[in-house]
Amino acid sequence: MKHIDVLTLFPGLFGPFLAEGVLGRALRAGRLAVELVNYREHGLGRHRVVDDVPYGGGAGMVLRPEPIFAAVRERTALHRGAGRPARTVLLTPQGRPLHQAKARELAASPDALLLVCGRYEGFDERIRQGLADEELSLGDFVLLGGEVAAMAVIECVARLLPGVLGNPASGTEESFAGARLEYPHYTRPAEFEGMRVPEVLFSGNHARINAWRAEQARRRTRERRPELLRDGGGEAAPGEETTLAPANGQG
Ligand SMILES: C[S@@+](CC[C@H](N)C(=O)[O-])C[C@H]1O[C@@H](n2cnc3c(N)ncnc32)[C@H](O)[C@@H]1O
Repeated sequence: MKHIDVLTLFPGLFGPFLAEGVLGRALRAGRLAVELVNYREHGLGRHRVVDDVPYGGGAGMVLRPEPIFAAVRERTALHRGAGRPARTVLLTPQGRPLHQAKARELAASPDALLLVCGRYEGFDERIRQGLADEELSLGDFVLLGGEVAAMAVIECVARLLPGVLGNPASGTEESFAGARLEYPHYTRPAEFEGMRVPEVLFSGNHARINAWRAEQARRRTRERRPELLRDGGGEAAPGEETTLAPANGQG
């Protein structure tokens, strides 16, 4: 079972997120355990203070080190006692962008994952220095807090765990499983507002369908994310277009 702890000031944000759909089933089936830890419980004084004004002045409040150190140390000791190491991941816009390869690595690792969510102006620098095994970002934009980023990590890791997806092929054929985006999908009706499903998909010829899908995946990747072909060791065709494909997904 994969163990993920979320250290947050807003555990209530995670209720429905963890109860519904694939994630809810994975938790109930014991494929995954998610613990919500409110580090305000380790806050200072009667008011359980977790933040303070920045040294040197400036806007906003900064998360103090003591409550987060205490929460991470408590959870790390608990996991160690259960025989598994813990990896502390800070969610921050200054971290490495979350990537499917990172999701695969985290899903395959036996380590418990401690996802630490910042708020306000973010973490006192000593939290990075003293606690973080790594820092992950959801992308080049600034959120109010790390919770949405933690949810993204939980989802992309959980769906790679054995037994979580009904059809394991869903996790291996999709975008980023290799150095490709996935081919376009169609379902009923065969024609919708003048847009027709490509004939090949009705052919019943699986070799032709697979060849069409492979070509569509290559074309789509060349058009939208040519760097994936280069970074993944594939070849981007000379003179390739970098404009987006038509919105109807055909062509
Ligand atoms: C308002 S942000 C602080 C931003 C920080 N002052 C900076 O400029 O880097 C508050 C918290 O939201 C979370 N956060 C914001 N944007 C994020 C992102 N793109 N990825 C992951 N976490 C993010 C982090 O936990 C951060 O500590």
